Amino acid sequence: MLVLGIESSCDETAAALVTGDRRILAQAIASQDAAHAPYGGVVPEIAARAHAERLTPLVEQVLREANVTLADCDAVAATAGPGLIGGVMVGLVTAKALAMASDKPLLAVNHLEGHALSPRLADPDLAFPYALLLVSGGHCQLLLVEGIGRYRRLATTIDDALGEAFDKTAKILHLGFPGGPAVERLAAEGDPKAVPLPRPLMGSAEPHFSFAGLKSAVLRAHESGAYNAADIAASFQQAAIDCLRDRTTRALDSMGEVTALVVAGGVASNRSVRAALEDIAASRALRFVAPPPILCTDNAAMIAWAGVERLKAGFPADPLDVSARPRWPLDAGAEPVRGAGVKA
Ligand code: KG4
Ligand code: ZN
Repeated sequence: MLVLGIESSCDETAAALVTGDRRILAQAIASQDAAHAPYGGVVPEIAARAHAERLTPLVEQVLREANVTLADCDAVAATAGPGLIGGVMVGLVTAKALAMASDKPLLAVNHLEGHALSPRLADPDLAFPYALLLVSGGHCQLLLVEGIGRYRRLATTIDDALGEAFDKTAKILHLGFPGGPAVERLAAEGDPKAVPLPRPLMGSAEPHFSFAGLKSAVLRAHESGAYNAADIAASFQQAAIDCLRDRTTRALDSMGEVTALVVAGGVASNRSVRAALEDIAASRALRFVAPPPILCTDNAAMIAWAGVERLKAGFPADPLDVSARPRWPLDAGAEPVRGAGVKA
């Protein structure tokens, strides 16, 4: 089995070819960091134009590198949401055209399902059900992954996503864009106990997250002039990780039997985050699984792999008139959380 994957939901344009036995034959990721850096964040219009310019050459590149043609593929899978709608439409329309021209099935993949199943691309032994912490720029959720297409959301953020908090901290400290890796690097040089920062929702009964108050406290600490940037970065990262630990532990307590604790999404490439979760897993004699960093941040291999999983599980192809969806929760039945807004 061979699936072509396309990803364009945020600021990475990506294409990949993945086989049914977990081989990534080729993958290409064009980052738009330089285009968005002057604005300190992703500008949707710039992103959509960049996707439109780069996607077709990237698809040609991975086909060439893998030495295959569309005729060799079993399906074309593309992110159909959630994400910045202009970019999602570019990827989905491209996938529709390729599927139509080659008479192959189209798979409209939920970007979050791509993240959620990416650990199974990296680890053949990861079996359902598993506990998943999905931490990215747009989402911060604890999910019970019961099977393909079967996700139960146990917790979400009521305000900012964790990656967003890293990005805003980077902005406050003038570390540039994207912020997460820069904060992680600077934090390594600072004292995590130097700055007293809040741990929002820590100890609360529901395992939800909140990072807006932490971000505001980072701003106040910076403006006070009393702390250096490295200490602020280290203290921020520590506070965020303390919240993750507490919230994840709380969710695991209410979850029943799982085969593993799994982390995915862009923030999962942070070494301290991984270490904290590995520690929780060890204390519960649970396996810990985290994909390699290249599969944590946005990529098309995870979209192709979600396509592979869907095909193998017998899910039908999507019609060529399937719509791009700016919002598309993994667990449509989850109760809305007060204050969670669009990030629910
Ligand atoms: O999954 P992703 O590439 O895109 C979304 O779907 O949002 O996640 C991007 C997010 C950004 O907020 C970025 O700052 C964060 O992941 N990130 C990190 C690190 N690498 C990426 N956050 C903390 N530490 C990192 N090393
Ligand atoms: Zn993502």
